[in-house]
Amino acid sequence: MIPQGILNKMDGSRQRYVDELLSFLRIPSVSTYSQNGSDVRRAAEWVLNQLKRLGFQAKLYPTEGHPIVFGERCDMPDRPTLLIYGHYDVQPPEPLEEWRTPPFQPIIQDGYVYGRGATDDKGQFFTYLKAIEAILAVESKLPINVKILVEGEEEISSPHLAPFLSSHQTDLKADAVAISDGSQFMQGIPAITYSLRGLSYLQMEVNGPQFDLHSGVFGGVVTNPVQALATILGKLLHPDGRIAIPGFYDDIVPLEAWERDEMAGLRFDEEGLKSYLGVQDLAGETGYTPLERKTARPTLDVNGIWGGFSGEGAKTIIPAKAGAKVSMRLVPNQNFRKINGLFREYVESITPAGVTLKIKELHGADPVLVSRDEVHVQAAAKAIEKGFGRAPVFIREGGSIPIVNLLKEVLGIESILLLGWGSPDDGAHSPNERFLLDDFHRGIRSVAALLYELSPS
Ligand code: BES
Ligand code: MN
Ligand code: MN
Repeated sequence: MIPQGILNKMDGSRQRYVDELLSFLRIPSVSTYSQNGSDVRRAAEWVLNQLKRLGFQAKLYPTEGHPIVFGERCDMPDRPTLLIYGHYDVQPPEPLEEWRTPPFQPIIQDGYVYGRGATDDKGQFFTYLKAIEAILAVESKLPINVKILVEGEEEISSPHLAPFLSSHQTDLKADAVAISDGSQFMQGIPAITYSLRGLSYLQMEVNGPQFDLHSGVFGGVVTNPVQALATILGKLLHPDGRIAIPGFYDDIVPLEAWERDEMAGLRFDEEGLKSYLGVQDLAGETGYTPLERKTARPTLDVNGIWGGFSGEGAKTIIPAKAGAKVSMRLVPNQNFRKINGLFREYVESITPAGVTLKIKELHGADPVLVSRDEVHVQAAAKAIEKGFGRAPVFIREGGSIPIVNLLKEVLGIESILLLGWGSPDDGAHSPNERFLLDDFHRGIRSVAALLYELSPS
């Protein structure tokens, strides 16, 4: 039970919580742009300052990339310890012209806060800080020990967090981890996530002649790199939506009947999805429902493609090169390194003669499946019911959080609580990203409830 004084405190502070969130969102901490390096650092310092104000022993740990912020308030050796993870970096805001208001000048409209990072992940992570603040303001101590780990490289697949976990195993020791970096099943239906997809992200470059050629003078004697690339890309999927890479499906744990029944019971709104996306038809692998396809089955997508002439008018050339970025979402128990290898082998085998192919591996994350039968999961379910006024459903999510597997493997933490406060239509990574303020406040309440639910007495 959350003491009434804390509930009152949280209710009375809503406006200030939102004002502080707005100042967090004003920092353009885009981790992938090197020109934003000092902004990313400013966001880290902003979080560090919050932790210090909450009486955490906290430090900024520089890496070769962006800093990691870690802090703890652990003064009760007989109580459990919760590790909270979040990320203060954000995705690039482009295309800017699609935003109705500037991405780093957050505003409140119709009960939503709009701005890059509103839901992914600044707004969701911030609920932990404000819940802790409210508890400390009233009770002067927390019901359990708390550690907080916040990074600035999640959106670039956490390259420096893995070594940090290995070198700080004792500092990071905890009974459970809580992460709010996903979403509810849909607005108003809170959820606990028990699976995330993994990711293999590669870049392909096809090179033909040494320079762009006159297509009249040389047409007929060279392989066109753009067409060679198109041929390769056209062979990645079968017409039924299955991925054509040999061995791709070998390690997948098939969905069991109980789980498919459970997913069907969620009554996923396909029509709602179509209208949100503005498409007439959904697509994907035959034999699976849209909800299964977007969360529990693997996918392969071309993320971008370039090559040749695309300016105004016509230019008669055979381009010298072409390229594409391709990513695959993976499901348990696929392994991104193995999939990268299979992709490379297959693509090399189908590359037309006359061009050379280079493949670069950009990102990777392994998929996760976490246990639903942990006492901590039950505690989280009760906490969500208190915060949202409704018991959570259990879902798989299609996105990836690279660090989750490492928390299991490196730190040996089995209880991983993936508690999304956002909504699938928040527009994470899209223009006009937003977060419903009521969900922000429900998230804060849920966090406070969680800390009490995890406390033994
Ligand atoms: N918060 C997302 C992951 C997510 C999205 C989880 C939706 C659950 C539901 C995270 O910030 C993210 O975008 N991850 C990247 C990982 C990549 C850059 C390695 C992703 O999924 O594309
Ligand atoms: Mn995120
Ligand atoms: Mn993200």
